[in-house]
Amino acid sequence: MAKQRKIIIFDTTLRDGEQSPSCSMNLNEKLEVAQMLEQLKVDVIEAGFPIASPGDFEAVKAVAKEIKSCTIAALARSIAKDIDIAGEALARAARPRIHVFCATSQIHRKYKLKRAKSEIVKMSVEAVRRALKYTDDVEFSPEDASRTEPDFLVEVVSAVIDAGATTVNIPDTVGYAIPAQFAELISYLRENVANIDKAVISVHCHNDLGLAVANSLAAVSAGADQVECTINGIGERAGNAALEEIVMAIKTREDYFNATTDIDTTKIYPASRLVASITGMHLQRNKAIVGENAFAHEAGIHQHGILSDRRTYEIMKPEDIGLPSSRLVLGKHSGRHGFEQRIKALGYKLTKTQLNEAYQKFIELADKKKDIYDADIEALIKQQASAGVEVWRLESLQTTAGTNTIPTATVTLSKEGKKVVDAATGDGPIDAAYEAIGRITGIKLKLTDYSLRALTSGKDAQGEVTIEVTHNGERLRARGISTDIVEASAKAYLAVVNRILSLGKTRKKKKSTTP
Ligand code: KIV
Ligand code: ZN
Repeated sequence: MAKQRKIIIFDTTLRDGEQSPSCSMNLNEKLEVAQMLEQLKVDVIEAGFPIASPGDFEAVKAVAKEIKSCTIAALARSIAKDIDIAGEALARAARPRIHVFCATSQIHRKYKLKRAKSEIVKMSVEAVRRALKYTDDVEFSPEDASRTEPDFLVEVVSAVIDAGATTVNIPDTVGYAIPAQFAELISYLRENVANIDKAVISVHCHNDLGLAVANSLAAVSAGADQVECTINGIGERAGNAALEEIVMAIKTREDYFNATTDIDTTKIYPASRLVASITGMHLQRNKAIVGENAFAHEAGIHQHGILSDRRTYEIMKPEDIGLPSSRLVLGKHSGRHGFEQRIKALGYKLTKTQLNEAYQKFIELADKKKDIYDADIEALIKQQASAGVEVWRLESLQTTAGTNTIPTATVTLSKEGKKVVDAATGDGPIDAAYEAIGRITGIKLKLTDYSLRALTSGKDAQGEVTIEVTHNGERLRARGISTDIVEASAKAYLAVVNRILSLGKTRKKKKSTTP
């Protein structure tokens, strides 16, 4: 039997994932995700596209400085200034990789780049050579490879390997490929690119036809050694191949692939939760591996089998992906010790002050909610971590709504100990509460997104509201959690208001110190 291969996991959550409009992250959020990816033990983190914006440049720079056990990649078009900026952003990386791309398909050549084949080859080769000035780890992607004429793809791939590319990535940019055909393309390249053994073959698949994971795995079977993917499959349009599905397929069907990855699969579930909560892109319940129902067994016949031997209906163990137990964990009488123990079991390390504050919040929650689950505790800790400066505090909120009544909200906020009350009407109780908060704080926001989900099941489940607003051209997102969804909505709104007010203060301070 052939030697088992290691498949390189290249995560592009922070680049291709973040690129999709509803998934943008700020610098701190990107760092948090990067730290999680490091714990997950991905081989490569594509941290951004530095030329795209100053924010992307800073994020790549920060990730390169912070994360030392993964290769950090930055994307660049085959344009000199893109490559130079990517090289600059990666200057402090322990293992930098520049990922250059150039479209190769006929449709992209004709309508996007307006270049002949020979010019595409020249641009690609020059780009690889320029990137090599910054690092000897250079990846090249012929964009829209799956729609490129195979013989031209051979020409480009051979030329960039000759120029020094160490990884050649074959993207299915528009999600057009079909598994057997995509596998054939990989085999064709292995057979026809004379110098192919000098580079790693990678694949990068989009999910427009729902085939991103299937295409990536077909390519692995055909000899690809690197897969590009994102947590929860986030990404442009229908997304990218989902990391958790690729990794668990390779692990569960090691017998078939004769391959492994270095991923610590017990970090898959926490990584999925983190990305979902930061981006506000929540998962469908039946999402493979990390969806709420992925390990739930409803049918009696299945439950019977599971009780006799889990393997009757389970091909993976929930603990393999780090799924916390969904059992009831704590209640009003669990006490401080029980709470501390559960926090440790969930993997959090809190300081004494943080623990005291979290316990106080737990007691308040236990007064409102009989059963407290892991998800409630995690939400409580995450809220505390992302709380930021509290300029205005929500003291109380009363709403009236119903059929044939005008929805009204009376809101009491306090600032530096001074209480201010106002009342307003609106299209509904949430709209009325937002109107009242806007009047008190002087900040009226236009929501670009609002989502609500229950953290756990049951009538007394906490609701998590995530809102997104655009203020002075900047996209801001915040969450509010409560057993009352109007209160959760008000908390989310107030969190954005507080962020705007504290940002304003730091910006003013910065201005006055600038010469
Ligand atoms: O989908 C794509 O082609 C890409 C490339 C830049 C690799 O994201
Ligand atoms: Zn892509």
